[in-house]
Amino acid sequence: MEKELRVSKIAEGTVIDHIDAGRALNVLKILGLSGSEGLTIAVVMNVPSKKLGKKDIVKVEGVELREDQVSKIALIAPSATINIVKNYEVVEKVKVNVPHVIEGLLKCVNPNCITSLPREPVKTKFKVLRVRPLNLICEYCGVELNQEDVITQLTGAKA
Ligand code: CTP
Ligand code: ZN
Repeated sequence: MEKELRVSKIAEGTVIDHIDAGRALNVLKILGLSGSEGLTIAVVMNVPSKKLGKKDIVKVEGVELREDQVSKIALIAPSATINIVKNYEVVEKVKVNVPHVIEGLLKCVNPNCITSLPREPVKTKFKVLRVRPLNLICEYCGVELNQEDVITQLTGAKA
């Protein structure tokens, strides 16, 4: 009996592995992929993982990720690894990194924060207080963002 759940290896493209269980669709959203592009995509959700208990995996044929996309993925899937595949082999494996300070990527939810005022274009700056569960604090006004806030901002969807 076949016990392992098997998803085909890809020939060329990117495998995002060790995504927090249930977040694969958020990752696709960050990549701007809906499926209507015609790219071959495999989405595996809630499969057993040694590191995370359960994990998701996203495989996209023919795509390499941009740096800003990798930064965003780190904020919703801090254990993710990005595998670049060429000719069926993993040629590069990068673990995403949550920096100590996040600049210009997220909005402050405080409408009175200096970074929210349209007349003063000040880049947002959040300090990472905790990665899991995610907790960020605005350097300017002290308002905090949690994981749900960040998912909503990066994907436009409710967490
Ligand atoms: N993978 C794939 N197609 C390939 C090569 C790899 O879809 N041609 C996938 C594997 O299924 C796995 C991920 O890419 O989900 C990473 O592959 P690999 O580094 O070979 O696996 P592991 O050593 O188990 O990775 P890790 O140590 O990061 O868990
Ligand atoms: Zn603020």
